Amino acid sequence: MTAKPAILTTAFLGLALVSTATYTLAKPETFKMVYGSPESKVSSVPYKGAYVEGGDVVTALPEIKKVPNAKTHNVRLDLTHKTVEIDDGVQLEGWTFGDSIPGPTVHVRQGDKVIFTMTNRSGDDAKVTFPMPHSIDFHSAMVNPLDKYRTIGAGQTITFEWTANYPGVFMYHCGTPMLLHHMIMGMYGAVVVDPVGGYPDKVDREYVIVQSELYTKPKDPKNPNLLVSDVESAIKKSPSHVLFNGRVNSLVNNPLKAKPGERVRLYVMNVGPTDTSSFHVVGTIFDKVYLDGNPNNLLRGMQTVLLGSSNGAVVEFVVPESGKFAIVDHEFADASLGAVGFVDATDGKGPKASH
Ligand code: CU
Ligand code: CU
Repeated sequence: MTAKPAILTTAFLGLALVSTATYTLAKPETFKMVYGSPESKVSSVPYKGAYVEGGDVVTALPEIKKVPNAKTHNVRLDLTHKTVEIDDGVQLEGWTFGDSIPGPTVHVRQGDKVIFTMTNRSGDDAKVTFPMPHSIDFHSAMVNPLDKYRTIGAGQTITFEWTANYPGVFMYHCGTPMLLHHMIMGMYGAVVVDPVGGYPDKVDREYVIVQSELYTKPKDPKNPNLLVSDVESAIKKSPSHVLFNGRVNSLVNNPLKAKPGERVRLYVMNVGPTDTSSFHVVGTIFDKVYLDGNPNNLLRGMQTVLLGSSNGAVVEFVVPESGKFAIVDHEFADASLGAVGFVDATDGKGPKASH
Protein backbone atom coordinates (compact mmCIF):
# COMPACT_ATOMS: atom_id res chain seq x y z
CA MET A 1 0.00 0.00 0.00
CA THR A 2 2.81 2.38 0.76
CA ALA A 3 4.41 1.90 -2.68
CA LYS A 4 1.38 3.08 -4.62
CA PRO A 5 1.53 6.77 -3.71
CA ALA A 6 5.27 6.73 -4.49
CA ILE A 7 4.61 5.36 -7.97
CA LEU A 8 1.86 7.91 -8.51
CA THR A 9 4.14 10.69 -7.34
CA THR A 10 6.90 9.53 -9.68
CA ALA A 11 4.47 9.34 -12.57
CA PHE A 12 3.11 12.78 -11.75
CA LEU A 13 6.62 14.25 -11.52
CA GLY A 14 7.44 12.63 -14.85
CA LEU A 15 4.41 14.24 -16.47
CA ALA A 16 5.29 17.56 -14.90
CA LEU A 17 8.84 17.29 -16.25
CA VAL A 18 7.59 16.39 -19.72
CA SER A 19 5.15 19.27 -19.78
CA THR A 20 7.80 21.71 -18.52
CA ALA A 21 10.17 20.54 -21.23
CA THR A 22 7.68 20.85 -24.09
CA TYR A 23 5.76 23.94 -23.08
CA THR A 24 7.03 27.20 -24.44
CA LEU A 25 5.64 30.50 -23.32
CA ALA A 26 4.05 32.59 -26.03
CA LYS A 27 6.19 35.53 -27.01
CA PRO A 28 5.18 38.62 -25.05
CA GLU A 29 2.98 40.93 -27.09
CA THR A 30 5.28 43.58 -28.51
CA PHE A 31 2.66 45.27 -30.64
CA LYS A 32 1.48 48.62 -29.26
CA MET A 33 -2.28 48.52 -28.92
CA VAL A 34 -4.32 51.67 -29.50
CA TYR A 35 -7.48 51.80 -27.44
CA GLY A 36 -10.30 54.16 -28.30
CA SER A 37 -10.17 57.17 -30.61
CA PRO A 38 -11.41 60.79 -30.75
CA GLU A 39 -15.15 61.36 -30.61
CA SER A 40 -17.02 60.75 -33.86
CA LYS A 41 -18.33 63.68 -35.89
CA VAL A 42 -21.79 63.77 -37.40
CA SER A 43 -22.76 66.36 -39.99
CA SER A 44 -25.62 67.06 -42.36
CA VAL A 45 -23.52 68.57 -45.16
CA PRO A 46 -24.90 67.15 -48.44
CA TYR A 47 -22.66 64.62 -50.20
CA LYS A 48 -23.23 63.30 -53.70
CA GLY A 49 -19.85 61.73 -54.58
CA ALA A 50 -18.77 58.11 -54.92
CA TYR A 51 -20.41 55.54 -52.64
CA VAL A 52 -17.05 53.88 -51.98
CA GLU A 53 -13.60 55.39 -51.42
CA GLY A 54 -10.34 53.88 -50.28
CA GLY A 55 -8.38 52.84 -53.40
CA ASP A 56 -6.75 49.42 -53.06
CA VAL A 57 -7.85 49.23 -49.41
CA VAL A 58 -11.46 48.66 -50.49
CA THR A 59 -12.27 45.92 -53.01
CA ALA A 60 -15.34 44.14 -54.35
CA LEU A 61 -15.69 40.43 -53.46
CA PRO A 62 -13.89 38.11 -53.97
CA GLU A 63 -10.96 40.36 -54.82
CA ILE A 64 -8.27 41.52 -52.37
CA LYS A 65 -5.25 43.71 -53.19
CA LYS A 66 -1.95 44.44 -51.50
CA VAL A 67 -2.33 46.98 -48.69
CA PRO A 68 -0.66 50.29 -49.63
CA ASN A 69 2.28 51.26 -47.42
CA ALA A 70 0.50 54.24 -45.81
CA LYS A 71 -0.25 53.86 -42.09
CA THR A 72 -3.52 55.80 -42.32
CA HIS A 73 -6.30 54.99 -44.76
CA ASN A 74 -9.37 57.04 -45.63
CA VAL A 75 -12.31 54.72 -46.24
CA ARG A 76 -15.85 55.60 -47.24
CA LEU A 77 -18.78 53.19 -47.46
CA ASP A 78 -22.06 54.96 -48.02
CA LEU A 79 -25.44 53.53 -47.07
CA THR A 80 -27.89 52.99 -49.91
CA HIS A 81 -31.22 51.32 -50.47
CA LYS A 82 -31.00 49.31 -53.64
CA THR A 83 -32.63 46.50 -55.60
CA VAL A 84 -29.85 43.96 -56.17
CA GLU A 85 -29.80 40.80 -58.27
CA ILE A 86 -29.27 37.73 -56.06
CA ASP A 87 -29.93 35.12 -58.76
CA ASP A 88 -30.51 35.17 -62.52
CA GLY A 89 -33.57 37.36 -62.93
CA VAL A 90 -34.28 37.44 -59.18
CA GLN A 91 -34.09 40.77 -57.37
CA LEU A 92 -33.98 41.62 -53.69
CA GLU A 93 -34.94 44.99 -52.29
CA GLY A 94 -32.03 45.45 -49.95
CA TRP A 95 -30.06 47.92 -47.84
CA THR A 96 -26.34 48.19 -48.51
CA PHE A 97 -22.94 49.40 -47.44
CA GLY A 98 -21.16 50.84 -50.49
CA ASP A 99 -24.07 50.00 -52.81
CA SER A 100 -23.51 46.21 -52.86
CA ILE A 101 -24.56 43.12 -50.87
CA PRO A 102 -22.30 42.16 -49.14
CA GLY A 103 -20.48 45.48 -48.88
CA PRO A 104 -16.91 45.77 -50.19
CA THR A 105 -13.98 44.27 -48.29
CA VAL A 106 -11.79 46.64 -46.28
CA HIS A 107 -8.16 45.47 -46.16
CA VAL A 108 -5.56 47.08 -43.90
CA ARG A 109 -2.50 46.12 -41.88
CA GLN A 110 -2.24 45.58 -38.14
CA GLY A 111 -1.45 48.94 -36.54
CA ASP A 112 -2.96 50.97 -39.38
CA LYS A 113 -5.48 53.69 -38.65
CA VAL A 114 -8.71 53.85 -40.62
CA ILE A 115 -10.42 57.21 -40.94
CA PHE A 116 -13.90 56.08 -41.80
CA THR A 117 -16.68 58.13 -43.33
CA MET A 118 -20.24 57.05 -44.09
CA THR A 119 -23.14 59.04 -45.48
CA ASN A 120 -26.66 57.71 -45.07
CA ARG A 121 -27.99 57.99 -48.62
CA SER A 122 -30.97 55.73 -48.05
CA GLY A 123 -33.22 58.57 -49.20
CA ASP A 124 -31.44 59.06 -52.53
CA ASP A 125 -33.52 56.56 -54.51
CA ALA A 126 -37.20 57.07 -53.81
CA LYS A 127 -38.05 53.98 -55.89
CA VAL A 128 -36.72 51.62 -53.22
CA THR A 129 -38.04 51.44 -49.63
CA PHE A 130 -38.34 54.68 -47.65
CA PRO A 131 -35.24 56.21 -45.95
CA MET A 132 -34.06 54.56 -42.75
CA PRO A 133 -31.60 55.31 -39.95
CA HIS A 134 -28.50 53.09 -40.05
CA SER A 135 -25.11 52.62 -38.39
CA ILE A 136 -21.92 50.59 -38.72
CA ASP A 137 -20.24 48.25 -36.24
CA PHE A 138 -16.67 47.18 -37.09
CA HIS A 139 -15.69 43.98 -35.29
CA SER A 140 -12.10 44.91 -36.19
CA ALA A 141 -12.18 48.03 -33.99
CA MET A 142 -11.91 48.68 -30.23
CA VAL A 143 -13.95 51.83 -29.66
CA ASN A 144 -16.98 53.05 -27.73
CA PRO A 145 -19.98 51.66 -29.64
CA LEU A 146 -22.32 54.30 -28.19
CA ASP A 147 -20.24 56.95 -29.95
CA LYS A 148 -18.72 55.41 -33.09
CA TYR A 149 -21.50 52.95 -33.89
CA ARG A 150 -24.26 55.50 -33.36
CA THR A 151 -27.23 55.56 -35.70
CA ILE A 152 -27.39 58.33 -38.29
CA GLY A 153 -30.45 59.48 -40.20
CA ALA A 154 -30.88 59.88 -43.96
CA GLY A 155 -28.68 62.70 -45.23
CA GLN A 156 -26.29 62.58 -42.26
CA THR A 157 -22.59 61.73 -42.44
CA ILE A 158 -20.55 60.16 -39.65
CA THR A 159 -16.74 60.20 -39.46
CA PHE A 160 -14.67 58.34 -36.90
CA GLU A 161 -11.38 56.50 -36.71
CA TRP A 162 -10.18 53.16 -35.43
CA THR A 163 -6.87 51.35 -35.30
CA ALA A 164 -6.48 47.72 -36.35
CA ASN A 165 -5.06 46.21 -33.14
CA TYR A 166 -5.55 42.58 -34.08
CA PRO A 167 -4.91 40.82 -37.36
CA GLY A 168 -7.73 38.73 -38.74
CA VAL A 169 -10.88 38.37 -40.74
CA PHE A 170 -13.64 40.44 -39.18
CA MET A 171 -17.11 41.54 -40.09
CA TYR A 172 -18.81 44.86 -40.18
CA HIS A 173 -22.55 45.26 -40.04
CA CYS A 174 -25.35 47.68 -39.30
CA GLY A 175 -26.09 47.80 -35.59
CA THR A 176 -29.38 49.68 -35.68
CA PRO A 177 -32.43 47.98 -34.14
CA MET A 178 -34.06 45.78 -35.21
CA LEU A 179 -30.60 44.46 -35.91
CA LEU A 180 -31.77 41.16 -37.39
CA HIS A 181 -33.88 43.09 -39.88
CA HIS A 182 -30.97 45.32 -40.95
CA MET A 183 -28.73 42.26 -41.29
CA ILE A 184 -31.11 40.27 -43.47
CA MET A 185 -31.54 43.33 -45.70
CA GLY A 186 -27.85 42.87 -46.63
CA MET A 187 -25.97 45.24 -44.33
CA TYR A 188 -22.64 43.51 -43.79
CA GLY A 189 -19.16 42.97 -45.17
CA ALA A 190 -15.64 41.85 -44.26
CA VAL A 191 -12.52 43.52 -42.92
CA VAL A 192 -9.18 41.77 -43.43
CA VAL A 193 -6.31 42.92 -41.22
CA ASP A 194 -2.88 41.58 -42.24
CA PRO A 195 -0.54 40.75 -39.36
CA VAL A 196 2.57 42.92 -39.01
CA GLY A 197 4.97 41.32 -41.51
CA GLY A 198 2.12 39.44 -43.21
CA TYR A 199 0.92 35.85 -42.78
CA PRO A 200 3.79 33.37 -42.44
CA ASP A 201 3.44 31.57 -45.79
CA LYS A 202 3.71 32.93 -49.31
CA VAL A 203 0.60 32.15 -51.35
CA ASP A 204 -0.14 32.20 -55.06
CA ARG A 205 -3.81 33.19 -54.82
CA GLU A 206 -5.91 35.09 -52.32
CA TYR A 207 -9.69 35.48 -52.29
CA VAL A 208 -12.37 36.67 -49.90
CA ILE A 209 -15.56 34.69 -49.30
CA VAL A 210 -18.44 36.08 -47.26
CA GLN A 211 -21.18 33.63 -46.33
CA SER A 212 -24.62 34.88 -45.34
CA GLU A 213 -28.22 33.75 -45.16
CA LEU A 214 -31.13 35.56 -46.75
CA TYR A 215 -34.68 35.30 -45.48
CA THR A 216 -37.03 36.42 -48.22
CA LYS A 217 -40.54 36.31 -49.57
CA PRO A 218 -42.03 37.68 -52.81
CA LYS A 219 -43.04 41.31 -52.52
CA ASP A 220 -46.10 40.46 -54.56
CA PRO A 221 -47.27 36.80 -54.65
CA LYS A 222 -47.85 37.18 -58.40
CA ASN A 223 -44.17 38.01 -58.98
CA PRO A 224 -41.79 35.49 -57.39
CA ASN A 225 -38.78 37.30 -58.90
CA LEU A 226 -38.94 40.42 -56.75
CA LEU A 227 -38.11 39.56 -53.15
CA VAL A 228 -38.24 41.42 -49.89
CA SER A 229 -36.77 40.38 -46.56
CA ASP A 230 -38.97 38.38 -44.20
CA VAL A 231 -38.29 38.95 -40.50
CA GLU A 232 -40.70 36.17 -39.51
CA SER A 233 -38.69 33.45 -41.28
CA ALA A 234 -35.47 35.01 -39.94
CA ILE A 235 -36.74 34.59 -36.38
CA LYS A 236 -37.70 31.01 -37.20
CA LYS A 237 -34.15 30.49 -38.58
CA SER A 238 -35.56 29.29 -41.87
CA PRO A 239 -33.43 30.85 -44.64
CA SER A 240 -34.53 31.04 -48.27
CA HIS A 241 -30.92 31.32 -49.47
CA VAL A 242 -27.46 30.66 -48.02
CA LEU A 243 -24.96 32.45 -50.20
CA PHE A 244 -21.28 32.94 -50.87
CA ASN A 245 -20.62 36.56 -51.81
CA GLY A 246 -24.25 37.55 -51.96
CA ARG A 247 -25.43 35.75 -55.04
CA VAL A 248 -26.73 32.29 -55.91
CA ASN A 249 -23.93 30.48 -57.80
CA SER A 250 -21.58 33.50 -57.68
CA LEU A 251 -18.56 31.19 -57.25
CA VAL A 252 -20.04 28.54 -59.56
CA ASN A 253 -20.46 30.90 -62.51
CA ASN A 254 -17.25 32.76 -61.65
CA PRO A 255 -15.10 30.14 -59.91
CA LEU A 256 -11.96 31.12 -58.03
CA LYS A 257 -9.07 30.50 -60.42
CA ALA A 258 -5.97 28.57 -59.37
CA LYS A 259 -3.38 26.23 -60.85
CA PRO A 260 -2.27 22.76 -59.80
CA GLY A 261 0.41 22.97 -57.11
CA GLU A 262 -0.51 26.49 -56.08
CA ARG A 263 -1.09 27.51 -52.48
CA VAL A 264 -4.42 29.29 -52.06
CA ARG A 265 -5.45 31.51 -49.15
CA LEU A 266 -9.12 32.16 -48.53
CA TYR A 267 -10.28 34.84 -46.13
CA VAL A 268 -13.62 33.40 -45.05
CA MET A 269 -16.21 35.36 -43.11
CA ASN A 270 -19.47 33.84 -41.93
CA VAL A 271 -21.66 36.83 -41.18
CA GLY A 272 -24.72 34.73 -40.37
CA PRO A 273 -26.80 36.53 -39.15
CA THR A 274 -27.83 33.34 -37.35
CA ASP A 275 -26.44 30.20 -38.98
CA THR A 276 -23.05 28.49 -38.64
CA SER A 277 -20.83 27.51 -41.56
CA SER A 278 -18.99 24.19 -41.75
CA PHE A 279 -16.63 25.50 -44.37
CA HIS A 280 -15.08 22.80 -46.54
CA VAL A 281 -13.28 22.46 -49.89
CA VAL A 282 -13.81 19.10 -51.62
CA GLY A 283 -10.64 17.35 -52.76
CA THR A 284 -8.09 19.05 -50.54
CA ILE A 285 -7.21 19.47 -46.87
CA PHE A 286 -6.63 22.82 -45.19
CA ASP A 287 -2.90 22.83 -44.53
CA LYS A 288 -3.30 25.79 -42.18
CA VAL A 289 -6.34 27.41 -40.63
CA TYR A 290 -6.05 30.57 -38.55
CA LEU A 291 -9.25 30.93 -36.56
CA ASP A 292 -10.64 34.45 -36.88
CA GLY A 293 -7.59 35.04 -39.08
CA ASN A 294 -5.14 35.48 -36.21
CA PRO A 295 -1.85 33.66 -36.94
CA ASN A 296 -1.64 32.68 -33.25
CA ASN A 297 -4.80 30.57 -33.68
CA LEU A 298 -3.20 27.96 -35.90
CA LEU A 299 -4.82 24.61 -36.73
CA ARG A 300 -3.22 22.11 -39.11
CA GLY A 301 -4.65 19.54 -41.49
CA MET A 302 -8.29 20.54 -41.12
CA GLN A 303 -11.00 18.97 -43.31
CA THR A 304 -13.61 21.54 -42.27
CA VAL A 305 -13.59 24.70 -40.21
CA LEU A 306 -16.64 25.53 -38.10
CA LEU A 307 -17.51 29.21 -38.12
CA GLY A 308 -20.17 30.62 -35.83
CA SER A 309 -22.12 33.69 -36.79
CA SER A 310 -19.50 36.48 -37.02
CA ASN A 311 -16.50 34.12 -36.98
CA GLY A 312 -13.90 34.37 -39.70
CA ALA A 313 -10.89 32.32 -40.68
CA VAL A 314 -7.88 32.33 -42.91
CA VAL A 315 -7.80 29.00 -44.71
CA GLU A 316 -4.77 27.85 -46.73
CA PHE A 317 -4.48 24.79 -48.91
CA VAL A 318 -2.52 23.39 -51.82
CA VAL A 319 -4.30 22.57 -55.08
CA PRO A 320 -3.20 18.93 -55.40
CA GLU A 321 -3.75 18.44 -59.13
CA SER A 322 -5.76 19.71 -62.09
CA GLY A 323 -9.48 19.70 -61.30
CA LYS A 324 -12.48 21.55 -59.99
CA PHE A 325 -12.70 21.72 -56.21
CA ALA A 326 -16.13 22.44 -54.75
CA ILE A 327 -16.36 24.98 -51.93
CA VAL A 328 -19.29 24.14 -49.68
CA ASP A 329 -20.90 24.74 -46.37
CA HIS A 330 -20.80 21.07 -45.31
CA GLU A 331 -24.11 21.64 -43.51
CA PHE A 332 -25.79 20.35 -46.65
CA ALA A 333 -29.11 22.07 -46.10
CA ASP A 334 -27.09 25.28 -46.45
CA ALA A 335 -25.22 24.00 -49.52
CA SER A 336 -28.54 23.12 -51.17
CA LEU A 337 -29.79 26.65 -50.45
CA GLY A 338 -26.83 28.06 -52.40
CA ALA A 339 -23.65 27.91 -50.28
CA VAL A 340 -21.58 26.29 -52.99
CA GLY A 341 -18.82 27.39 -55.35
CA PHE A 342 -15.63 26.16 -57.02
CA VAL A 343 -11.91 26.57 -57.14
CA ASP A 344 -11.21 25.94 -60.82
CA ALA A 345 -7.73 24.55 -61.43
CA THR A 346 -8.37 23.11 -64.91
CA ASP A 347 -6.75 25.94 -66.90
CA GLY A 348 -10.00 26.31 -68.84
CA LYS A 349 -9.74 22.76 -70.16
CA GLY A 350 -12.76 21.58 -68.17
CA PRO A 351 -12.93 18.78 -65.66
CA LYS A 352 -10.98 15.60 -66.41
CA ALA A 353 -13.91 13.46 -65.34
CA SER A 354 -17.35 13.85 -63.87
CA HIS A 355 -19.29 11.71 -61.48
CU1 CU B 1 -29.13 49.51 -41.02
CU1 CU C 1 -21.58 42.45 -34.33
